[in-house]
Amino acid sequence: MSSPNRLNPFSAVIKKRYLLTKPGSTKETYHVVLDLSHSGLKFKVGDSLGIYGDNDPILVQRLIAALKVAPDTLILHPRSGERMTLWSFLLKKAHISRLTAAFLNMVPPIENAEVYLATHDVLDFLLEFSGFNLQELVAAFSPLLPRMYSIASSPLMHPNEAHLTVAVSSYEHRGELRYGVASHFLCHLAEVGKTSIPCYVQPAAHFTIPEDDKVPLIMVGPGTGIAPFRGFLQERTIRGSSGKHWLFFGERHRLHDFFYEEYWNGLIQEEKLVLDLAFSRDQESKVYVQHRLYEKGAEIWEWLEQGAHFYVCGEADPMGKDVEATLLRISQEFGGLAEDKARPFLKELRRQKRYLADVY
Ligand SMILES: Cc1cc2nc3c(=O)[nH]c(=O)nc-3n(C[C@H](O)[C@H](O)[C@H](O)COP(=O)(O)OP(=O)(O)OC[C@H]3O[C@@H](n4cnc5c(N)ncnc54)[C@H](O)[C@@H]3O)c2cc1C
Ligand SMILES: NC(=O)c1ccc[n+]([C@@H]2O[C@H](COP(=O)([O-])OP(=O)(O)OC[C@H]3O[C@@H](n4cnc5c(N)ncnc54)[C@H](OP(=O)(O)O)[C@@H]3O)[C@@H](O)[C@H]2O)c1
Repeated sequence: MSSPNRLNPFSAVIKKRYLLTKPGSTKETYHVVLDLSHSGLKFKVGDSLGIYGDNDPILVQRLIAALKVAPDTLILHPRSGERMTLWSFLLKKAHISRLTAAFLNMVPPIENAEVYLATHDVLDFLLEFSGFNLQELVAAFSPLLPRMYSIASSPLMHPNEAHLTVAVSSYEHRGELRYGVASHFLCHLAEVGKTSIPCYVQPAAHFTIPEDDKVPLIMVGPGTGIAPFRGFLQERTIRGSSGKHWLFFGERHRLHDFFYEEYWNGLIQEEKLVLDLAFSRDQESKVYVQHRLYEKGAEIWEWLEQGAHFYVCGEADPMGKDVEATLLRISQEFGGLAEDKARPFLKELRRQKRYLADVY
């Protein structure tokens, strides 16, 4: 039997879920432990899990009420042709908030369609217009795609489990609080030990620990970017690796947003980890991970000369770009590289798979 994949996901349940952010935080980030027993799923540290989240049933109910049809009305899935109820199509298969141009093709021309699309969602549209052919309407939805989450545990330390670090994503639509689909599903809607969480492994091409246990690792992971590095350190601990580890973590406030603090402190006491922190909102001016990197530029350069691998994970823009710019600056100011030699140096690190980014 083939192992679960994107088209044939495994149905996991949540074993444990708790908040990493403390009361008073301006964010909500959860640690989520999925039970992968008997799944056949294999992964290495650095890989991600693809998750299919359900939409919020309250929003689905509001859409169906606006349509004035019964939730168990049967429709054909516009892509697979599978017969299903309107309710399960809207709950599991459709991107129900994004209004696409296909919806506008079903109604009389709207003046300034681009502005309309940018300022309205599907619910607004269904409240404004009526008289649709239901099968035509379901075909206008874009499909609900899986979301990726970096695995935050080592399969050696936690066999049959995958740990995730999930930030609840939210936004305001016309004065109403709305949540991102998958993070809301994983953190709020899914019941621990009960709800099925369809998932599969999305392997990372090179973003993992080196085979050589002596290689030093520099890891930069602000926010949820910390996730894979918890996996890296667990794996290296179990392997009894002798290599050095240096982690740069950043969040808003030390008091509320210092994820996995006890775990890092334990590693520091065992002299397995060097930790540098950047709490951006604990002082008037912003302090970010790349500022800490630059402060330690001379030592970072030394580690690179010793063959260290450099990893960055988290938001691609601007964080990932800023970290790369800082690395370039370090290679010039602390490594003595001429301006025209810095980029080729980074390119070479990349070619050697020693500069690895998993940014989103
Ligand atoms: C390789 C990889 C690894 C990742 N690892 C992690 C991880 O470890 N932890 C983690 O938390 N995330 C991670 N992510 C990000 C994650 O995949 C999701 O993108 C994130 O959780 C948001 O998904 P969502 O379904 O909750 O929100 P979505 O429904 O996708 O919405 C996301 C955002 O889009 C905007 N939006 C959506 N709909 C509307 C609308 N109708 N009107 C206005 N704005 C709207 C809002 O800003 C909203 O907050 C990773 C991504 C990648 C690619
Ligand atoms: N309410 C929401 O919708 C919501 C909330 C949180 C996260 N998110 C989204 O969720 C995803 C992951 O977020 P996350 O929780 O991992 O954390 P994040 O939002 O990326 O923030 C983590 C830390 O990185 C800092 N940061 C901001 N810009 C930076 C830069 N250029 N360089 C370095 N550090 C920088 C942040 O500081 P400052 O924030 O102080 O600038 C914060 O201290 C992102 O896509 C984010 O947009 C959404």
